[in-house]
Amino acid sequence: MKGLILSGGKGTRLRPLTYTSAKQLVPVANKPVLFFGIESIVAAGITEIGIIVGDTKDEIRAAVGDGSRFGDDVEITYIEQDAPRGLAHAVMIAEEFMAGESFVMYLGDNLIAGGIQSLVEEFQELGCNAQILLAEVPNPQQFGVAELSDDGETIERLVEKPKEPRSNLALVGVYMFDHNIFDSVKAIEPSARGELEITDAIQNLIDRGLSVHPHTVRGWWKDTGKLEDMLEANRIVLESLDLGRRQGHAGVDSTLEGRVQLGEGVELINSVVRGPAILGDGARIENAFIGPYSSIGDGCVVVDCEIENSIVLADSEIRDIPVRIDGSLIGRNVKIGRSPLKPKAYRFMLGDNSEVGVG
Ligand code: TTP
Repeated sequence: MKGLILSGGKGTRLRPLTYTSAKQLVPVANKPVLFFGIESIVAAGITEIGIIVGDTKDEIRAAVGDGSRFGDDVEITYIEQDAPRGLAHAVMIAEEFMAGESFVMYLGDNLIAGGIQSLVEEFQELGCNAQILLAEVPNPQQFGVAELSDDGETIERLVEKPKEPRSNLALVGVYMFDHNIFDSVKAIEPSARGELEITDAIQNLIDRGLSVHPHTVRGWWKDTGKLEDMLEANRIVLESLDLGRRQGHAGVDSTLEGRVQLGEGVELINSVVRGPAILGDGARIENAFIGPYSSIGDGCVVVDCEIENSIVLADSEIRDIPVRIDGSLIGRNVKIGRSPLKPKAYRFMLGDNSEVGVG
């Protein structure tokens, strides 16, 4: 079996970060989301992996490389998509790479608990043509949704973002297909939003009488496409990481509470870090409180302020903020601080689609 990871797309819901960076490289617990996907495919014993890339291809290539960082026998092939024409279009352009083999397709901004090894094994044992994963969600209008037969064994219909959903079972971003999917992606037409939808392609498999097995996921699953989900994924991953193992030192007049992972060369001066939290290499924390569920990137400087439940990307500086920062996603090389200028006022320089909440 081979792997296919989708790492193109527009990432409109994570602007402005995605103007300058791939959303799949936004870190969760200081590791790019995409790496979790690659690692779980490799853990399932799959070593030949194709990655669909779009405008951010150079950045993805620079981060992922040839695959050797994920294992000696891992080989990554980059497949360029000229525009985000839909998940089924991404499958279509991967046909040559798959060369007739079955494959697992993984959306590069998704995270799923417990890995996918047992799911891949189940797919192989069942010998079905496709396997989809389903999870109960409170807001099915925002997902591809499956309607199952009364016994829950077969899929009757798949609908993309239904206005009046007849089930709360959303398609999780991990799928398994055999070669039959290629005829289906070629048979469908673009949807109203102009994309070749994977739900339509799977519906086509069903209509052709091929077997599509639904597997309902019991553990957590996150699509990190928007801010709240990204922060929740960060919380869940920090909660489940074995942070204690690589715990560093508290430093001058500082306290580490709970599970805290310190990178190399972290400077802690007169500060409290309350886990679960992770601080990247060379971060400097001074007169500050870093609260639970914070991921502070490499080279960040946090001085005279309090921050919790937030993700801060590398090389950002946050100084002298009187109110605690909470629930925030702060990009790379961002500077937040007090201005000495008069009159006393908020002074912003923000990119398009930035969001600021002042308490
Ligand atoms: P989505 O999150 O559905 O789409 P998007 O990246 O365009 O984001 P937004 O809705 O915020 O604009 O995509 C799921 C994953 O699949 C994501 O990792 C991007 C990837 N993708 C492709 O590689 N090619 C595509 O044509 C599409 C639509 C998505």
